[in-house]
Amino acid sequence: MSAVPPSRFDELRAEALACTACRLADGRTHVVFGDGNPQADVVFVGEAPGQREDELGLPFVGPSGKLLDRLLGEIGLQRSDVYIGNVVKCRPPKNRDPRPDEIEACKGYLREQLRLIDPKVVVTLGNFSSKLLLNTETGITRLRGTAYQWWGRYLIPTFHPAAALRGSAQVLADMQFDFGLVAAAVAGNLRADIDEAET
Ligand code: URA
Repeated sequence: MSAVPPSRFDELRAEALACTACRLADGRTHVVFGDGNPQADVVFVGEAPGQREDELGLPFVGPSGKLLDRLLGEIGLQRSDVYIGNVVKCRPPKNRDPRPDEIEACKGYLREQLRLIDPKVVVTLGNFSSKLLLNTETGITRLRGTAYQWWGRYLIPTFHPAAALRGSAQVLADMQFDFGLVAAAVAGNLRADIDEAET
């Protein structure tokens, strides 16, 4: 019996796990490629792995991940229904912001993940993923609250869960509104407020 050939998605994952394209490779414990259903309708894109994610090799497994799970649950989804990834796949030291050259070195993996998963909806969590994918300098506070038409799918920017954990109740309420847009987009009920992304 012949072995099942690896899918392009498995190959991409293997490439990322061996990647040494930027300095973040030096300090990592694990590459955090992404997790969830590679056939999902919805892909969430965060910023970068933190300490817990680096230890386990999985995205959003710390406090931000608990809030993400809760927000997913409120729209009737669980982790196994979606795919979760990040802009950069290796933890920046002391959780500093990813640098432009690190984002540049890593963004091909995200682009290929999105091409292969081909979701209906991409949800960007926070400034880094929102600015990268919408190709804008506009911040998340102004970007969020609407859905954008983006390469034949919807892109819905919202705050990073860490912002809700350290911010006001309003940040959480805004995220709940944005997750409502996600639910509507998945159900095919999104009509109003569609903006054209300037990409
Ligand atoms: N924050 C992120 O942006 N990504 C993770 O995977 C965890 C925390």
